[in-house]
Amino acid sequence: MALTTFPDDFVWGTATAAYQIEGAVDEDGRAPSIWDTFSHTPGKTFNGDTGDVACDHYHRWEADIKLMQDLGLQAYRLSIAWPRILPQGTGQPNVQGLDFYDRLVDGLLAANITPFITLYHWDLPQALQDRGGWANRETVDAFVEYADAVVGRLGDRVTHWITHNEPWCAGFLGHYMGVHAPGITDLKTALQATHHLLLSHGRAVPVLRSARAGAQVGITLNLSPSYPVSDSPADAEAAKRADGFFNRWFLDPLYGRGYPEDMQELFGEALPQIEAHDLDIIATPTDFLGVNFYFPAVVRAVGPEVNPLGGEQRSADEAAAEGREITAMGWEVNPDGLRDLLVRLQHDYQPKAIYITENGAAFEDQVVDGAVHDPRRSAYIQSHLEASHQALTSGVPLRGYFAWSLMDNFEWAYGYAKRFGLIYVDYGTQERILKDSALWYKRVIAENALVEP
Ligand code: FCB
Repeated sequence: MALTTFPDDFVWGTATAAYQIEGAVDEDGRAPSIWDTFSHTPGKTFNGDTGDVACDHYHRWEADIKLMQDLGLQAYRLSIAWPRILPQGTGQPNVQGLDFYDRLVDGLLAANITPFITLYHWDLPQALQDRGGWANRETVDAFVEYADAVVGRLGDRVTHWITHNEPWCAGFLGHYMGVHAPGITDLKTALQATHHLLLSHGRAVPVLRSARAGAQVGITLNLSPSYPVSDSPADAEAAKRADGFFNRWFLDPLYGRGYPEDMQELFGEALPQIEAHDLDIIATPTDFLGVNFYFPAVVRAVGPEVNPLGGEQRSADEAAAEGREITAMGWEVNPDGLRDLLVRLQHDYQPKAIYITENGAAFEDQVVDGAVHDPRRSAYIQSHLEASHQALTSGVPLRGYFAWSLMDNFEWAYGYAKRFGLIYVDYGTQERILKDSALWYKRVIAENALVEP
């Protein structure tokens, strides 16, 4: 008997991103992106791994759609590689690049799978980075040009659009921590880049919406509910700052409140240049909010010499000592964090609709006699679906769930060392194997309800 049933129109999907799966980095007119440059720079990725071949999805997309069909997926979140469409960032669109996504979209629709398309999942054309990248305001115009080129070709069929994936990561991991492309480590540059990412989102919303009556447009944020590690006032303050950094710095301007004052004070001289009306543009109403959730932030206060934001996340060992399960990424498993987050979003921001656009876990999978037994992944997803269902019951307008990821892929700075897929990929042969979690997720979709893993 089904334990927990979801609404009839709840959407079940999986997600991927272009650079993580496509490969074929120099085919059909594609030029390098910042991730080609970054991954080819010695010391930037685990083992020197790159996305040159990845899952070879560029050549295997038809077989991959068959796998999606086999799982009964109703939706598939993919991203478009900007350097396939506008190899130099601006100018004449590359027809062969557009042709690829045209075929992919048609293939998905023929399989009854709704494409949810992300425009920017971090692969900025290198040509634009050479002119300053996201720190340069002209990149905002270039993004609108790119959105226009994509919509001109796909907008008649695509109903769901996501402007950006995780501007926190693109902005801060890329320009402050420097662990993602373009590998810059400067807070002021990071804040300027982040502002331009948000501005480009607001500018692109009407462009995407104009293509088709009823088109739904949103943005995807990685959000981390932030809890203090103790009940000391200092830790509570640190958790509030972490919330400002991860969540409010993005949610507040997107929902019309401007940048949060406490964080403006903290960032001080590093604050970005903002022109008149930028905040109005950023607050352009959207149709949904995409939420990527993996783990919450559990934070303690530290001095500014340790971290300028005055906070630090507790370690995996500390979390484990509190009884938390830890994934291969060193992330603690805490599904209550997802429920708290969804309820808080509804309470504080009232998005028209929410999709969980990513959620999942990496574990050390092994192939045994042609199968992959990954009960911990099924349990992870199951517990987060339970938390999602609790949020739904309390009135959160949650419309769908996308597991990260359809298949194992290039996990950015971790290269191929971390496997998040429901489908196992043997990178030597490109063989795909449905993990036990994929078979379990297939049953969930078929029942539209949680079933025992
Ligand atoms: C998210 C990214 C996605 C993937 C997962 C594990 O931050 O959006 O591409 O790497 O983490």
